[in-house]
Amino acid sequence: MNYQANDRIRIALIGAGGMGNGDVRDALLNPGVEFVGAADIYDSRLDRIKEVYGAGTFTTRDYREILSRSDVDAVIVATPDHLHARISIDALNAGKDVYCEKPMVQTIDEGHQVMAASAKNASRVFMVGSQYASALAFAKIRSLLKSGAIGELNLVESWLDRNTALGAWQYSIPPDASPRNIDWDRFIAHAPKRPFEPIRLFRWRNYQDYGTAVAGDLFVHLVTGLHTATESEGPKRIYATGGIRYWKDGRDVPDTMFGLIEYPKSERHPEFTFAMRVNFKSSEPQERFGFKFVGSEGTITTDIRSVTLSRKPREKEPGYTIGTFAKAQQEAFVAQYRKQYPAQASTMETMTEEGEQRWVAGSDAHRDHMAAFIQAVRTRKPHFENARFGLAAAGPALLANTSYFERRVCLWDAKTLKAG
Ligand SMILES: NC(=O)c1ccc[n+]([C@@H]2O[C@H](COP(=O)([O-])OP(=O)(O)OC[C@H]3O[C@@H](n4cnc5c(N)ncnc54)[C@H](O)[C@@H]3O)[C@@H](O)[C@H]2O)c1
Repeated sequence: MNYQANDRIRIALIGAGGMGNGDVRDALLNPGVEFVGAADIYDSRLDRIKEVYGAGTFTTRDYREILSRSDVDAVIVATPDHLHARISIDALNAGKDVYCEKPMVQTIDEGHQVMAASAKNASRVFMVGSQYASALAFAKIRSLLKSGAIGELNLVESWLDRNTALGAWQYSIPPDASPRNIDWDRFIAHAPKRPFEPIRLFRWRNYQDYGTAVAGDLFVHLVTGLHTATESEGPKRIYATGGIRYWKDGRDVPDTMFGLIEYPKSERHPEFTFAMRVNFKSSEPQERFGFKFVGSEGTITTDIRSVTLSRKPREKEPGYTIGTFAKAQQEAFVAQYRKQYPAQASTMETMTEEGEQRWVAGSDAHRDHMAAFIQAVRTRKPHFENARFGLAAAGPALLANTSYFERRVCLWDAKTLKAG
């Protein structure tokens, strides 16, 4: 389907929880976008859709009823992580354009299945909903890195710390939750069968069966931001450590995690190390998010809203530590040193240029990302956060989980997108 500039784009939502509702809100900010309906397995969320969008809005417990509608052009997949691959593949095969929330998949194998489905349905737009790909901050950092603003990149540190119960995924469980208004089997799908237990649905992130732990939920944002800024294809070695340090609420995933990742030299960047940290009991007053790109001649920091460049050019000479040598040795050293580094007269030219520059983003990354999806649907030009990009970000993040749970270093092949 080719859209004219003024054509309608009719979207539907699969998974009408927190993010799905946010995605629809942002999609509707784009001219010509209409909302057709939603699928969810908890009736109260469908009731809410009708409250917000009108009693005539189509709702169903079975997402396949959304996919079989000819008046739906594109779907937003915002279910728990374990359902992303299956629903996205079904949607592509049904001829829909797909905006799939991050992480694209729960397992690396699923990533290859989504890539194959996207290739088979190449005329369909498939885009991953990891909005740091559209963050102005990372675009700015990309141009700064390319211009050599911090010399040669050697280390990137990133952190996403929280200090609230909601930040630690203790979401509300509705008092009416029961098998009558929740389609438990459709939620469980291919995950291990379990008796009805609402906490596992409403706090699904806390369980490996449905979520992807801190790594898939949050590291994947950090990896997406890093890949957007450095244009890297991916790392080669991944190590993660951490534990359940505070939120001992029955979860089977860590609440504190460090990931250390090695990026090999590529055409676009030198070899560097990437360190990621998530702490759900950080003792900070609020959520803290940030990146620090360290190079040989400066640093770039971002809190996503703003970017700060701090230049510290390379020293012109290394200096010396000769005070403990005998006098003759000191003199010999200085003579040799000055041959290598002739003394320079102090002039304007010998002054080094140091200092800070700051840029502030004027727009919201999530809104821009959804606008990029609508633009891709309208123009049929794929966005760079396609299935391959999605797996290139999700793969290393998911391997951080493998590293943590299996207590080993994991290898990743960024060309084949397979674990070594
Ligand atoms: N891009 C971001 O910054 C961002 C932020 C938050 C969440 N997310 C992603 O969005 C997704 C949803 O997260 P959330 O916080 O909205 O969770 P949520 O629990 O609020 O919403 C998930 C919804 O999916 C529904 N659901 C479960 N099984 C279903 C099925 N078989 N068919 C249809 N609906 C089903 C649930 O009932 C629920 O309403 C996750 O993959 C998460 O990683 C992304």
